[in-house]
Amino acid sequence: MSINSEEPPQEYIVKDSSFGSMESSDPSLGSIPIIDINIFSLSSSHDPKEVENEFEKLRSALCSEGCFQAIGHGIPSSLLDKLREVAKQFFALPAEEKHKYSRAAHEVEGYGQDRVVSEKQILDWSSRLSLMVFPEDQRRLNFWPENPSDFKDILHEYVVKLKGVMDILFKAMEKSLNLVEGSFSSQFGDNSLIKARFNFYPPCSRPDMVLGVKAHSDRSGTTVLLQDDEVGGLQIFKDDKWINVPVIPHALVVNLGDQMQIMSNGIFKSPLHRVLTNTDKLRISVATFNEPEPDKEIGPVEQLIDEERPRLYRNVKNFAAFNYECFQKGKVALEEAKI
Ligand code: OGA
Ligand code: NI
Repeated sequence: MSINSEEPPQEYIVKDSSFGSMESSDPSLGSIPIIDINIFSLSSSHDPKEVENEFEKLRSALCSEGCFQAIGHGIPSSLLDKLREVAKQFFALPAEEKHKYSRAAHEVEGYGQDRVVSEKQILDWSSRLSLMVFPEDQRRLNFWPENPSDFKDILHEYVVKLKGVMDILFKAMEKSLNLVEGSFSSQFGDNSLIKARFNFYPPCSRPDMVLGVKAHSDRSGTTVLLQDDEVGGLQIFKDDKWINVPVIPHALVVNLGDQMQIMSNGIFKSPLHRVLTNTDKLRISVATFNEPEPDKEIGPVEQLIDEERPRLYRNVKNFAAFNYECFQKGKVALEEAKI
């Protein structure tokens, strides 16, 4: 990947005119809701009307955009800033140093670029470091950077807090649909996974032809994203338009993944999203994905299936592997999981 003014190599040029196209989006169109999730964790100390309102906002956001910006999440701003800082320091290391953590071709964890599955594949203008963070005993610490020296501690501190945020979100999502507590979370199991992905997007001379990340939906249950504190680029696809997700430095972007769309029987949406490139500023983000224990089968919650809304999806096991197989065949996992 070149970061000077050279033309990007062919493999990065987006050619098709569908979701990956570079049509410009009007920033005045649509917006991403902002939700105070503090209200969900301490609902008893708030005015019931206010609580009811926030649940309604949540339900509505997840049924339409499948995405919102969470404030009131309780993770200290200073920790978010430190996490961005160690990520920046890691990506700024010389290539040889970063390659100590290189991902093997057939593996998921480690540092590198896109997994290449076909010659026709268009590549993303980014490098990533992917790490399993929970269950803790499955961490492969040889992939966790030694440099900067506080990387491991800060990531650990962040993900412990993030796990609490994800628990609050699960409960709030269940409650917003009047489901029994655990309807979603119990499907994930006691040893559900959380994976972290540090994304690095260098400047690119052709933002009109190259994407930081092509349009995709996440295969997770829920994704929580810490955006760059200055540089935007993330867009969500809604009503046939790409909507910018504005930078709010200490908010967390929550977007649902395919497995939440399946469990909610299609009521909640797993949005298509993408990342644009720009010519002069690098961008860093930290995405965290929760996923069920790989052996657990997930499927639509019974309470959400009735005559008016028949079962849309079959039960699936190890959706991560299923998703990868579909990707290799050029198919969309969420479509393949339909009945
Ligand atoms: C992802 C993703 C968006 C971003 O990692 O799946 O969509 O802003 N990232 O980096
Ligand atoms: Ni994504």
